[in-house]
This record gives sequence, structure tokens and C-alpha cells, in this order.
Amino acid sequence: MSRSTVVAHSNIALAKYWGKADALRNLPAVPSLSLTLDRLTTRTEVAFDAAFERDELVLDGAPTLGRPLERASMLLDRVRALAGLREHARVESRNDFPTAAGLASSASGFAALAFAAARAAGLDLGFGPLSALARASSASAARSFHGGFVRLRAGAEEAEQVAPAEHWPLRLLVVQTARGAKSVGSTSGMQHTAVTSPYYPAWVASAPSVFAEVERAVLARDLEALGHAAEHSALAMHASMLAARPAVVYFAPITLRVLHEVTAQRARGVPAWCTMDAGPHVKVLTDLGHAESLATHLRGLEGVHDVTIASPGPAARELAP
Ligand code: PMV
Repeated sequence: MSRSTVVAHSNIALAKYWGKADALRNLPAVPSLSLTLDRLTTRTEVAFDAAFERDELVLDGAPTLGRPLERASMLLDRVRALAGLREHARVESRNDFPTAAGLASSASGFAALAFAAARAAGLDLGFGPLSALARASSASAARSFHGGFVRLRAGAEEAEQVAPAEHWPLRLLVVQTARGAKSVGSTSGMQHTAVTSPYYPAWVASAPSVFAEVERAVLARDLEALGHAAEHSALAMHASMLAARPAVVYFAPITLRVLHEVTAQRARGVPAWCTMDAGPHVKVLTDLGHAESLATHLRGLEGVHDVTIASPGPAARELAP
């Protein structure tokens, strides 16, 4: 038996990816830039063995079939093809946060799976090819190999680091507003938006300049410029979904409540801006000096389950056997 265990960190996009330039190869239609988080990790062990009769997936302790197993097997197939391997695999994966709830579990999940599977198969790939391998399953996963600030250009195979975690000690509050799996997965949500929303072409046309604003603000460590651009990117992405037919609505009442509260805090001089992904949770960008008090304040809102204070996090890594 050959095995490997990897820890990968989730990432949250400050300039969002939504839409595919090539659905078959899973290449993004727009450039994105994310922050890898120190909190919210996936730990995945992959073992290949000639005695296994099929691929198996154990997710957060529960044997899992259906679509999650299919997606894992598709990635394992690509690894087997690269390594010239025929053995089946047993995958055991654990998130230290809720799975498939719009908290970027597919990003850390597919990054950890691609890395651990490649290593267990005896492949010695760098972060570039590993990132391309994970991207084919989930484009946001390509960004989880690198620490700190990471970009994935439109149409790109691989993600690249823009700046390491030490570049800027930002804080991102992960405000969990609901429990349970999300209603529409990102792949079908994107596809549906691209096909039915009259605002999708406008989203794709405007995303590169918002990405450039986000990248400039990150390099200049300008929190106000970053906050405004990141919040705009998220809301423009959601606007494209709201105009789909039928609409893709990830907002819950508490999502809006948190958005308004953050706007009110900002009016009082607190540097805080929101971003949201394919789920009802809100992530709030702020600085080191305001993170604790803002988290305490948001925890007091009815409907908020939990607030995690995350900092820029490290690259994915293989654990010693
Ligand atoms: O890569 P996916 O299929 O998990 O899509 C991620 C899409 C968003 O989280 C909404 C935005 C992003 O850039 O991460």
C-alpha cells in the first residue's frame, strides 16, 4: 500500500470567480484573487492498494457515495492516468468546518485530495501542475496550494502566488449564518447564470478591471481600496445570479442583516467590508485592531451561529508519514 496525508487551507476570493471559459477543462472565465486562510482546513489521506475493489470516500467520518465519490474518482482517474497506476484508492477526508455550505470546502478539499493522491501515486509534481490537477475538479481549489494572496487568471491552468501571508496581517471574519448544505452547487449555479442571466456578459466584461483594483490594493496594502473593490466584486457576482431565470439566491435574511450591520459599523469608522460566496455566510474583511471587537459584536446578532477570526494562512503541505 502507498499512502500520503495532506493538509490544505481554504481560501476566500476577494476578486470572485464565477463562470467558465471552457466547461470541459474547467477553465475560469474571469480572473480571481483569493486569501488563503489559516483557519478552516481539510486533512486528507489517500491510500492506493491492489486489494481495494473500488474507490472509497470517507468524508468527516461517514462513508460517502453519489456525487462526492464520483467527483473524487474523476480526480483519482486523472492521477492514475498520469502515474500509470491501476489500483483503487481509499480517501479519508476531514474538514474542521461545515462541508458544502459555501465555506470553500471544495477549495481545500480538492487541493488536499489532488496533492495527497499525486504523492500516494508516487508523482513528484510541483505546485503548478498540482494546482492544474485540482483546478479541473474545482477552480477555486487551484488557489489553495499557495499561502497568502493568490491569483488565478482567466483561462489559466494554474494559480500563482501574488504575495505571501506575511505581506499583510489582514483579518477575515467568517460569519456562519446557517447550518446545512447549500441549495445550489457552484458548478450548476454558474452554468445556469451563464445561460440565463442577461447580466452575465456584463459580469464577465467588468470582472478584469475589478480584479486589477483588488490586486493593486493588495500589493499597496490599501485596506480601504481593497474593501470597496472586494465588496463590489461579491455583490456584482451575486447580481448576475439574481438576474438568472429562475434566480440563484444564496442570501438568507440573516445574510442581509449582517451586510447592513457591517455598513453601519463602517459609517462609525470601523474598517470593515463584506464578501459572500455560494452560500448564506458572510466574510468580513477588517484589520488586526478591529477584528476582536467586530467579531464580538457580530456574534451578538440573532441568527449568527459562529464567527471565526481568520488570518492569512500557509500553503498546502504533506504531513510526515
Ligand atoms: O471552484 P468552485 O466551483 O468551488 O467555485 C467557487 C466560486 C466562488 O466561491 C463563489 C467564488 C470564488 O472565486 O471562490
